[in-house]
Formats: sequence, C-alpha cells, structure tokens
Amino acid sequence: MAKFQIAVYPGDGIGPDVTVEALRVLDAVQSSEPGLTLAYEHLDWGVHRWEQTGSVVPDNFLDILRPFDAILLGAVGWPAKIPDHVTLAPLVAIRQSFDQYACVRPARLYPGVRSVLADKDAGDIDFVVIRENSEGEYVNNGGRLRRGHPDEVAIQTALHTRRGVERILRYGFAIARTRRSKLTMITKSNAQAYAYVMWDEILEELSAEFPDVSTERQHCDAAAMNLVRRPEEFDVIVASNLFGDLLTDLGGVIGGGLGLAASTNTNPERQFPSMFEPVHGSAPDIAGKGIANPIASILSAAMMLDHLDSSNAAFRVRKAVERALADGCHTPDLGGTMTTEQVGTAVVERLSE
Ligand code: NAD
Ligand code: IPM
Ligand code: MN
Repeated sequence: MAKFQIAVYPGDGIGPDVTVEALRVLDAVQSSEPGLTLAYEHLDWGVHRWEQTGSVVPDNFLDILRPFDAILLGAVGWPAKIPDHVTLAPLVAIRQSFDQYACVRPARLYPGVRSVLADKDAGDIDFVVIRENSEGEYVNNGGRLRRGHPDEVAIQTALHTRRGVERILRYGFAIARTRRSKLTMITKSNAQAYAYVMWDEILEELSAEFPDVSTERQHCDAAAMNLVRRPEEFDVIVASNLFGDLLTDLGGVIGGGLGLAASTNTNPERQFPSMFEPVHGSAPDIAGKGIANPIASILSAAMMLDHLDSSNAAFRVRKAVERALADGCHTPDLGGTMTTEQVGTAVVERLSE
C-alpha cells in the first residue's frame, strides 16, 4: 500500500483555514480510495514562529523538507508584522533549492461561477500557465551601493539559462499535447533583447520538434490585454517567473477569483519533493473571519494527488469541487454566504456522489 509522507505547512493568515479544509477532503478521499495512504507532518512555521523565536522557519528547513514525498503549503506573509521579503524568502528558497522549475497554474471558469468579465461562460476561460519557477527575475542576484544616500544604487539582475528556458518550454509543449495543442510564449523581447530574444530563439528551435503544437509569441503587455478581451484563445501559456506570477493573478481573477486558483511547484524529475499551494496569499484582510474560499487549496491538493500518481483520487476531488460550485456552495468572494468550513463540508459530501 502506497504510503506518502506529506509535509503540511499551513503558514499565515488564511493559510491555516484553507489548509484544514484541504486536509479534510484528502482524508475523506483516501478513506474510500484503496491503496492511497497519506501521512502528514504539520509544520508550525510562519509569523507565529517568528514571534516566538525570531525566525519564520528553522535554519535547517530544507533538510527537514527534503525526505517528504510532497509539501502542501497554505500561504505565507503578514506584511503588517514582518517585511514580505523576509517571510517569503523560505518559499522562494524551497522552489529554487528543490528545483521545482515547473509552476503549473490552471485558470478555468467553472459552471455556476461568474467571471468578472462580462458574457463569459464556463468553457470560455480554460487555460494553464506554465510559469518558469527556478530562475529568471527571482534569482537572488544583485546588491545595493551607497545605502541611504541620494545617489544610492540597487541592482537586481535576472538570470535566464538555455537549459532553464528549454526545459520549461518542453514541459509546456508536453502539456499542450494533452490539451488543445496551442502554446503561447509570453515575454518582453521587444524591450529586453538579451534574455527574451534567447527565449524566442529557443521556442523557434523546439517548435520543429513539436509540429503538432501551434505556437505563438506575445509580449506581456499585449498578453495582459488579450487575456481580458479574448481569454478563450489561450490554451497553454509559458512565461518567465515574474511574468508568470503577474499573469496567474490575472488568470485567477478572470477564472472566477483567486479563491479558486490552484498551483503546483513541480520538480518533474522527482529528485526533490514538489510543493502544492494556492496561487493566492495569506489575505490578511479576511484572515480569522472564517470566510476564505478553500477551493484553491483543495484543488492544489488534487494536483498533489496527481503528482503522487493517484489520478483517480484527484479526479474525484475535482468532480466534487465542480459539483459543489455548480450547486452554489460559494463563499463571499464568489457572491455566496457560506463559510470556509461549510464549503469544505460541501466538497466532502460530494466525494461519494
Ligand atoms: P492575497 O492573494 O493574499 O489577497 C488578494 C485579495 O484576494 C484579497 O482581497 C483577499 O481577501 C482575496 N483572496 C485571496 N485569497 C482568497 C481566498 N482563498 N478566498 C477569498 N478571498 C481571497 O494577496 P495580497 O493581499 O497582496 O498579499 C497578502 C500577503 O500574502 C502578502 O504578505 C503577500 O506577500 C503574500 N503572498 C503570499 C503568497 C504565497 O504564500 N504563495 C502568494 C501571494 C501573496
Ligand atoms: C506566488 C506569490 C509569490 C511569488 C510570492 C509570495 C513570493 O506571489 O506564489 O504567486 O511571487 O511567486
Ligand atoms: Mn503571485
């Protein structure tokens, strides 16, 4: 019987609230899924730990996480208490140290959910962003000179490698083959001619290997506009780390809201644990109110099940979510009145349907 060891890192703000519901759904699905056993270790990391010890994670946090089969993360950050770059540094370090280079973020409008875009129905918005997650604009590479002086200088240099760009594009092509066979690469190669022209060249080289996948390029400014005015034209988007970050908040909100947007941080070679988390953050504005939408966390847990080769369990979770949304089981962000816990219960109840 497969027993998977899962590190659970609920984090801050609404992170713990939504993670509890994802765990309830995982427990319910595994109780009726022969062969699936998940063992959890709960990590009390985050702002609460920082208040007691002065650091959000232990010094050896990567060593602690490395043996696990997967990491389920809630959300991190509480900017009123700690600067974000301090709280969030471990999250970025996990992604980069564990070579979780493929960040997969579906954006899909579900039946029963309204988009902020007028006249869009379920099916009109159904794309997936493959965000390069290990390098690009997020490398810790730079410095500051003459701190505090009027002529202070800050340098932050992005890093794009041929290997990194090629592997994320290959990942995107492979996903496109399982979908509508269209790949849109989003860069800014008209202005940033070193890095993104290399992206252009690598796309050109690889597209010959994938003649069944149609490819196009868009600059990120035009892509932001096109995602709003004709989202139905997108299938698979591949983008650098920062552009992928921006476009997935946009994808989340046009797909019904950030409360529905799930994400992976995948190490496809499985040399390290992959991490699963909602796209959204810790939402301090609604933390502690019991009204956070747990669906993004639940769908992230479903993506974790897929990664653990438990695709039947993943399928059942997704179907239960679809039914709950179609039945109007909505938290206030979707215009409903249900609590976080009530929506979690609604999904659990629909697992057996
Ligand atoms: P956010 O994603 O936390 O919230 C943006 C808006 O969306 C808020 O109005 C919030 O109430 C709403 N929202 C988000 N998730 C929701 C949910 N599940 N249900 C209902 N509404 C939801 O972004 P922010 O406010 O800019 O950032 C808050 C903190 O989270 C910051 O510290 C930020 O750095 C951090 N952050 C962390 C992650 C992460 O852990 N991966 C991601 C993004 C932001
Ligand atoms: C996300 C978040 C993170 C990112 C932050 C919290 C570092 O916005 O997961 O989308 O920028 O990757
Ligand atoms: Mn983001």
